[in-house]
Amino acid sequence: MIIQPYQPETDNIPYPLLMLADPDIRRIDEYLANGRLFLGYQQSNDQAVAAAIVNASESTLEITNIATDPSLQGRGYGKQMVAFIVGFARQHGYATLQVGTGNSSLDQLGFYQKCGFRISGIIPDFFIHDDPPIFENGIRCLDMVLLTQSISRLSD
Ligand SMILES: CC(C)(COP(=O)(O)OP(=O)(O)OC[C@H]1O[C@@H](n2cnc3c(N)ncnc32)[C@H](O)[C@@H]1OP(=O)(O)O)[C@@H](O)C(=O)NCCC(=O)NCCS
Repeated sequence: MIIQPYQPETDNIPYPLLMLADPDIRRIDEYLANGRLFLGYQQSNDQAVAAAIVNASESTLEITNIATDPSLQGRGYGKQMVAFIVGFARQHGYATLQVGTGNSSLDQLGFYQKCGFRISGIIPDFFIHDDPPIFENGIRCLDMVLLTQSISRLSD
């Protein structure tokens, strides 16, 4: 997979892909307006097969959306996207890469830890007002689990 920053002249924004990670299209647009979109392409195909949005806050870069085409999940593309973002964060001098997910998102918690993140905090009741409530794996999504990894400098 080749990963490159979104270029408005040549790329489409892959909303179906981004909506796998976040069904709220208005929130996706907010993240896009203030962040960077990265797209992964297979050489043989001009449709993006993976996508991620990152947003910066001071010295922290946050992954606010990441998704792999369902037919291509489990092949390492998500991990490759995270590795690309780590490189981007290092190149731009961010100290920390962060991601947040729900307490019920067991698949994502597994994926992020495989990608080098450690659980670094919980925001209790972050999702408590979601209506209708979200259930995954038979667990109600209530709390935001924050995961971070330190970005080492090139000279370290
Ligand atoms: C989460 C997601 C981006 C992962 O992408 P992917 O391309 O399938 O992941 P990869 O194939 O790169 O997996 C990387 C590693 O994570 C592991 N992994 C993936 N899903 C996992 C799970 N459910 N439990 C444990 N480990 C998991 C893989 O086994 C692999 O481990 P390895 O490095 O030891 O081989 C993808 O499943 C997805 O698009 N999900 C829907 C959108 C979404 O939920 N986004 C996150 C929003 S918080």
